[in-house]
Amino acid sequence: MADMLEAPSEGAWGVRLENGYFAVIQKAGFRSVRIPVAFQIHALGNPPYTIDTNFFGRVDGAVKSALDCGLAVVIDLHHYGELRKEPEKHRARFLSIWDRIARHYQNYPDTVYFELFNEPGEGLSPVVWNALVAQTLRVVRQSNPKRAVIIDAPEWANIDGLEKLRLPENDRNLIVTCHYYNPFEFTHQGAVWIGPRADAWLGTRWPSGQVQLTAIQRDFDKIQAWSKLNKRPIYLGEFGAYSKADMKSRASWTAYVARQCEERGFSWAYWEFCSGFGAYDPPARVWREPLLKALVAPPQQ
Ligand code: GLC
Repeated sequence: MADMLEAPSEGAWGVRLENGYFAVIQKAGFRSVRIPVAFQIHALGNPPYTIDTNFFGRVDGAVKSALDCGLAVVIDLHHYGELRKEPEKHRARFLSIWDRIARHYQNYPDTVYFELFNEPGEGLSPVVWNALVAQTLRVVRQSNPKRAVIIDAPEWANIDGLEKLRLPENDRNLIVTCHYYNPFEFTHQGAVWIGPRADAWLGTRWPSGQVQLTAIQRDFDKIQAWSKLNKRPIYLGEFGAYSKADMKSRASWTAYVARQCEERGFSWAYWEFCSGFGAYDPPARVWREPLLKALVAPPQQ
């Protein structure tokens, strides 16, 4: 459900969250949604860092609608770029925001998951990130002793960051997440936020030959090896190919990545519902069939 509640204001990035979408998603065969939310945009800049109640209400409406449809929900704190740049300056605010979110949802069912921070990088080096995770968990655990919390791998949730992740050993209700966009020149061709080099990648196909399949398998073997060694479950919280790529390649890449996850027992979330990578076309109110089929088998009638 991207580009909605993590946009500077809802609608600013062209899509709005309609609570009716959750039924559409559930009926198509999905069992969970990841909702990126920019709580930090709607919180005071100074103590006590209160989160705007209207915005909290907006998020609650979405979470409740998803739960009512039987979907599990990941509440993902997204786009807190200032924390990434200046972790020390924003640490107290971040911890307070999580204290508030955690208390707010403490009585929600255990099918609500918290994801502390999307894609730590820059000033959130692996060492700084590991320390912040431990500290944030101490805060969250005061109100949610058992809830499953999702932790991003260091280095932008990249699979190579996994081996630098250090988690509190005694907290066994953690799920580790990484994001997958390889080959990047294929998945991010023409993506404006990447800059002009992404235009040079336009036309890159993903032919699904043995070379391509093996490259993905190797990456997933690496994730699986880490997961087994460290006894932590994996959630592939983002993967997708941007709309500028050709649909045939997008669908075959998407299907292959989703199956790689399933074969290894990883849960996954496609990036994303109805914006630039969208599996769903909001004006037409229809799924883009090749992508939907790539993600989930057609539902039983
Ligand atoms: C990350 C970014 C998001 C971007 C996506 C794919 O989630 O936060 O802005 O669209 O990756 O590049």
